[in-house]
Amino acid sequence: MAVRKLAPEDMQPESFVLSPETESFADKEIAKYPPGRQASAVIALLTKAQEQAGGWLPRKAIEAVAAKLDMPAIRVMEVVTFYTMFNLEPVGKYFIQFCGTTPCVLRGAGDIRRVLERRIGDQNHVTPDGTFSWLEVECLGACSNAPMVQINDDYYEDLTTENFETLLDDLAAGRPVKVGSQIGRIRSEPFEAVNTLQDPALYDGSVVGAWRKRFEEQAKAETGEAAAAVASIPQEAKAAKPSAGRAIESDAADTPAKRAKEGERPISRTDQKEAADPSKATKVEPKDAGAQPAPQSSKSYVATPKKEGEAVPVSPTTPEAGTPPAQAETRRDGSESKPGVTVDKDNKSS
Ligand code: FES
Repeated sequence: MAVRKLAPEDMQPESFVLSPETESFADKEIAKYPPGRQASAVIALLTKAQEQAGGWLPRKAIEAVAAKLDMPAIRVMEVVTFYTMFNLEPVGKYFIQFCGTTPCVLRGAGDIRRVLERRIGDQNHVTPDGTFSWLEVECLGACSNAPMVQINDDYYEDLTTENFETLLDDLAAGRPVKVGSQIGRIRSEPFEAVNTLQDPALYDGSVVGAWRKRFEEQAKAETGEAAAAVASIPQEAKAAKPSAGRAIESDAADTPAKRAKEGERPISRTDQKEAADPSKATKVEPKDAGAQPAPQSSKSYVATPKKEGEAVPVSPTTPEAGTPPAQAETRRDGSESKPGVTVDKDNKSS
């Protein structure tokens, strides 16, 4: 998609005022929405303003719509630059939107494009007499009548090089033209001979309910086949176990229901309260009241002697077990390994 920006300043008109017709249209549109929601009418108003301005939206028209809707102009500008149905530059009296999407291309849109380039020139270019301009757009939703173009508000379909040339000639000369299919087909009926839905029985009611009959016959045939299959099973064949092929049901691993089934008595509320009462907790007396508590891990302050009587190696940075950190000679915070950092007795580093 091309960058969408406002027309150059030299193309912009100096002023734009909403006509009485546009004003009254705007009031009707705004009245459709609850108070304070008038911005919802922005698309309708821009469309009308574009019509008033001759098929495109100058900056002043955008600002006039913003003022009417009490919206910041930049918000209206965002809408205008987003939707390709708003033209930002002047267009011809007949603005042709040419569909260049796959179904149209497969049906000859390339030929139509060549006619446009030869007769009008590049896209977004208005002929010197102001009659034509064109723009390639994506699918316009009339693919079954491809190739097609939209000229102003109307669709022209089933185009060929010849009928399109004639169409342009008639428009340029101000002659009446035929909207829709240019080959005479009605809307999107089959292009050539009708070759589907031709069975008269479809229209005389004789096939009403036929689908049901078909299914009933099919069900009957299937029942007969099943009965034949059962009859063909040898008498001595063992019947399958009732549980064969089914998931085995088993109790959940550990549930109150399972425990009750196994004869376990649920814990009473009184027992639960007693267990939670710290005053009734069992006290464990230490065997030797004077014994030092055992270190919590092998990485404690004191190394364990391997043999009886062997001296315990003491690291210069390792205080004795039980020494409060404040009285330890060396801190173990990493400062001892920093060059130039000394630690005094009060554990102040300098
Ligand atoms: S592809 Fe052209 S109208 Fe859909």
